[in-house]
Order: sequence, then C-alpha cells, then structure tokens
Amino acid sequence: MVEKEISQAVIGRLPRYFRYLGELKDQGVERISSQELSELMQVTASQIRQDFNNFGGFGQQGYGYNVDLLYREISKILGLDKTHNLIIIGAGNLGQALGNYMNFERRGFILKGLFDKNETLIGKKVRGIPVRGMDEVEQFIRENNIDIAVLTIPKTSAVEVAEILVQNGIKAILNFAHVDLNVPKGIQVENVHLSDSLMKLSYNLERYNKETKK
Ligand code: NAI
Repeated sequence: MVEKEISQAVIGRLPRYFRYLGELKDQGVERISSQELSELMQVTASQIRQDFNNFGGFGQQGYGYNVDLLYREISKILGLDKTHNLIIIGAGNLGQALGNYMNFERRGFILKGLFDKNETLIGKKVRGIPVRGMDEVEQFIRENNIDIAVLTIPKTSAVEVAEILVQNGIKAILNFAHVDLNVPKGIQVENVHLSDSLMKLSYNLERYNKETKK
C-alpha cells in the first residue's frame, strides 16, 4: 500500500466506515458495492470511492469491496491492529462512565488505570480497576507502557497535569477538559466537547424549522 498524506477529513470518516464494515462482517456479508455501502451509510458512492482511493482503493471493478479485507485495511490505517494502554485522569462522573465502557477494549484500547486527587475515591474500583492517587501516576505510566491518557478533570488543572503526563511518556491525550492543552509537537491531542455537538444540533434544528416553515 502506498503511504501518502491522508486529509484529516478522510481520517475523521474512517471510524464510521470501520463500524459499518464491522457490522457487515458480523452479519456474514463478504462483499459490498460502493452503491450498497452508500445506501447503508447515507454517503454518496463517489465520496466512498474517493475516500478509499486515498489509500489504494481496495475495490475491484464489478466485484465491489471485500468486506473483511477493507475492514482489516482500515483497522491498520487507524492503528487498531495494535493495542494501546490508556489511563483515565479524573475518576469523577465522566471518568467512571468512560472507565465502565467495555467497548474500548474491543478496539484495542486497554484501560490500565484510573487516577484522581480526591482521597475518598482512591481504592474505589471501576470494572475491577482501582482508582489510584496522583502521586502514583508518573511511575505507573513509565512502568506500564501507557501511551494514551484520557483527561476528565476540570480545566483549571488540565494544562498542568497534561505537562506532567507528557514528561513521563504519554504520547496522546483524549481531552475532555474545556481548555486547549499546551503540549510539545508530536503529542497527539483530540479534544472532545459534547456541547459543540449540541450547538451543532441546535443550529441544524433551527435551520430545519426555518426551512419547513417556508
Ligand atoms: P467530576 O467533578 O465528577 O469529576 C472530576 C474529577 O476530577 C473529580 O473526581 C476530581 O477529584 C478530579 N480532579 C480534579 N482535579 C484533579 C487533578 N488535578 N488531578 C486528578 N484528579 C483531579 O466532573 P465530571 O462530570 O466527571 O467532569 C469532568 C470534567 O470534564 C469537568 O471539567 C467537565 O467540565 C468536563 N466535561 C467535559 C465534557 C465534554 O464534552 N468535553 C462533558 C462533561 C464534562
């Protein structure tokens, strides 16, 4: 497969393709045309072809796509053929909810530990994994080959905590704190703001209401 720069827009769509292909695989579907995939996913067939052409196409004229092959290739592109060890910093409502979500493991993201500064939470188990104090986090990262941290702490301490995590070997951060992190180049940060999705939803709702009133 030829390695070339793939746009973030395409990368952003790959997880959705991956999910649909996984479901098709589970249903025993062996091949699918771009037209069928288009109808299923409500994306144009040309968009699908264009997206897949970014990394070599995979399709065969008159045959369509081999579901299992495509699933495995997208998995490789997304780096899901490897496992990643992750920790959650902030074992409050959100941290515990994420910790309780089993499906990350299915995708190769292995939750190794949860950390919090609140003494009353220390020792509490989330899916059998104890919450540890922040005094243990640096050593834990180094000894357990942790590459991803999920930040579910308030924005007031997120920047400072992220710095410590990175100094100890964290390579990627899934950031739920409402603040931009100041991390060195090469450290991957994905910000998640559920309120942004709600605002987008609100905009689309407004637009739909206006259009249907016309
Ligand atoms: P929470 O108050 O239940 O949990 C926060 C936890 O972080 C607490 O257990 C607290 O002891 C711990 N904590 C605070 N400072 C810490 C530090 N320096 N080191 C380690 N642990 C620390 O809050 P919740 O509901 O779980 O939300 C967590 C954060 O995520 C909040 O800041 C909230 O604004 C944000 N949030 C973001 C969302 C998003 O879509 N981005 C959605 C929901 C919450």
